[in-house]
Amino acid sequence: MAHTIVIFGASGDLTSRKLIPALYSLHKKKRLPENTNIVGVSRSTFDHKHWRDSLKKTTSEFAGSLFDETTWASFAERVFYQPGDIQQVNDFCELGKFLTSIEPEGKAGRVYYLSTMPQLYATAVEQLGASGLADDTHGERRVIIEKPFGTDLASAQELNHRVHKVFREDQIYRIDHYLGKETVQNLFAMRFANSIFEPLWNRNYIDHVQITVAEEVVIGSRAGYYDTSGILRDMFQNHIFQLLMITAMEPPPRFDSTLVRDEKVKVLHSVRPMMGGDFAAQTVRGQYEGYLKEPGVPAGSETETFAILKLYIDNWRWRNVPFYLRSGKAMSCRTSQIVIQFKQPPHLVFGTKLRQFDANRLVIQVQPAEGIQMHIQSKVPDTDMKTRTSTLDFRFSKGDAGGMPDGYQRLLLDAMNGDASLFARSDEVELSWGIIDPILAKWRSPAAPPLLQYPTGLWGPEQSFDWMRKQKREWFDVCPIIE
Ligand code: BG6
Repeated sequence: MAHTIVIFGASGDLTSRKLIPALYSLHKKKRLPENTNIVGVSRSTFDHKHWRDSLKKTTSEFAGSLFDETTWASFAERVFYQPGDIQQVNDFCELGKFLTSIEPEGKAGRVYYLSTMPQLYATAVEQLGASGLADDTHGERRVIIEKPFGTDLASAQELNHRVHKVFREDQIYRIDHYLGKETVQNLFAMRFANSIFEPLWNRNYIDHVQITVAEEVVIGSRAGYYDTSGILRDMFQNHIFQLLMITAMEPPPRFDSTLVRDEKVKVLHSVRPMMGGDFAAQTVRGQYEGYLKEPGVPAGSETETFAILKLYIDNWRWRNVPFYLRSGKAMSCRTSQIVIQFKQPPHLVFGTKLRQFDANRLVIQVQPAEGIQMHIQSKVPDTDMKTRTSTLDFRFSKGDAGGMPDGYQRLLLDAMNGDASLFARSDEVELSWGIIDPILAKWRSPAAPPLLQYPTGLWGPEQSFDWMRKQKREWFDVCPIIE
């Protein structure tokens, strides 16, 4: 069946940096369904050629060595541009005529990708409904909605409500690009396609879990968005909670979108709500030095660029195992990792002359390189019995010459094929806001924990190390363990 991907927000950064290079790469690998057309929509008055020319430049930059002229020429034939204003229903009717003119007779599936300003998501969906473009008599109609999906629980509920008036839940694809990352999907494979991890994956063997998403970048020119968002909304509610859910979920009976998401949602239902003193004891907030000097940041802004949340998941598997979630801008390096810290052996058989050794640790590196590292104790070669920490490294791409594809490739293809397993469901999004909202409310109140300053290029505020040490634990702060 023919497919059309309609991108609203065609002149935006995401379209040129991610979406078009991903579609181009899929075309090059011959993974795009036959007769796939791509139509960009935005208010700018380009024509097809103008848009293709500008995308050619950006795609050659962002697709890197995958780019070649011949493949681009065959891809560009399928790329079109239609000017349109989301506020104008007539523009949607014109778009409808244009789509019919390029689609073959008969059935054609359509994916509408909303990559516009988030304030326009609901209107765009309503206009699709009003102009008949959501009608699925002549083929599937699906809508992909970019993050952020709401800015709190109330706005997410309102957006869900308005979108559900036009599309059924199974037509709605709330995208989180972290779910497209190879290692995140590998986490499913690691947990549910191997039998050696599962018996250990619980409170009997695991002391705690650390999920860190550290970024080296500062805010740069994004203050307009970032200062009203802050790190909890920008990184925790979506990306980091996704990592949490996949790490903590129960095995689904099958890899099916409903069953997988049912299990993920149960994790969010089990997160212990914070009360009273928990907000001060279980959260840390920070801002990098120099944030207030970034262009566009209002004087005295208290927006967090760093945060730690210590969460508990109250179920049989995880009761009383802390999950430390941490993220920050302007940190030492770009690394996203999940550290499963196992308990010490119950009894040390090698006598008292040996120091207390490092317990086993499994480090799952999401990026930049994708892989896992197991920390195990082994004997130092010598005549006596001393142990040391040794590592077993494994790169997921080992033996795969093709390299790791960008997450958008997988997600775009899944949306075209109607597989929503790697997209957020309405209850998932609302539950995650339900966890974030009370923390943000406390942070915006006179009882907020202090906003700690930290120098750029380190692992966050000094106090966050003492905070961890007081719990008799250490952060695993190593810039990419696997190169
Ligand atoms: C985005 C956030 O969703 O994810 C950015 O808005 C962040 O602030 C980015 O930098 C991180 O994505 P990645 O794929 O580079 O880890």
